[in-house]
Amino acid sequence: MTTTIRLTLDTPELAQAYETGSHRQFNHGKLLIAALGVRRGQRVLDVGAGTGRLAAYVAEIVGSEGSVVAIDPLPLRVDIARQKTRDNLATAVGRAEDLSAFAAHSFDVVYLNSVLHWLDEGQKERALSEAARVLKPGGKIGFSTGSREKPHQLDPIQRKVLADLGKEAQGTIPHKLTVDEVRELLQRTGFIVDTVEIRTFVDHAADIDEILRQSGSGSFGNHLSHLSLDEKREVRARLAKELEAWRTPQGIRLERNLIFAIAHTAGN
Ligand SMILES: C[S@@+](CC[C@H](N)C(=O)[O-])C[C@H]1O[C@@H](n2cnc3c(N)ncnc32)[C@H](O)[C@@H]1O
Repeated sequence: MTTTIRLTLDTPELAQAYETGSHRQFNHGKLLIAALGVRRGQRVLDVGAGTGRLAAYVAEIVGSEGSVVAIDPLPLRVDIARQKTRDNLATAVGRAEDLSAFAAHSFDVVYLNSVLHWLDEGQKERALSEAARVLKPGGKIGFSTGSREKPHQLDPIQRKVLADLGKEAQGTIPHKLTVDEVRELLQRTGFIVDTVEIRTFVDHAADIDEILRQSGSGSFGNHLSHLSLDEKREVRARLAKELEAWRTPQGIRLERNLIFAIAHTAGN
């Protein structure tokens, strides 16, 4: 994973692959929404909404008395989100670090599902400060993000394969945090922390191509983007071989760890 994340590598194919293949993000996103206690009538902002699957789900929860705004910097993904037409769901191109399109104290809930680990330190700080600004007093923020103390099980395997080839040894996602760093970041950006915990998910993949498809679409083209086509082929072959050791009757079994954080702004 390149440490500098580019927003220019997305393609219609990657965006569509994310729409059809992002059940993992959708399923843990539903857990995040449950932890936030999102309810009927609330006004909610989904930051980094991708193709809008979770935003559409939340629009059903808040109902006609509530509303959801879903923003994402990738126009191709926003185009797909826009097709999920609902009276109470609005979509727009936008970035977490700049919520100037939204008034102060205008949302009950802001969430970022699998988004924060794509932002560097400065972007994270701006994103959370902006979220604090647009939340009503007592409003809630929730996010799921990659854990640095317990990385994805694919990380060390991928790092070794890349290092063996003399390439920069990168993990699957670039800007992970620890639980302590999440707490500190939330406090620094004006939040009162409710819960910060690591949750572990078990994934099964049929083969290396399913894993690479998910990594490619989930990273909007950034995964292994520093490699030539030939190098990518070699990495694919070596990863496929390594991952056979992880095969079970259900498929290649890998654990994924995410930090789930819930916090709120001070009340009136
Ligand atoms: C793995 S996807 C998650 C999408 C969606 N939240 C979901 O649960 O399916 C990561 C998303 O983060 C978005 N993203 C990357 N940089 C961002 C930024 N600076 N501000 C907001 N979103 C960003 C990407 O465009 C992408 O759609």
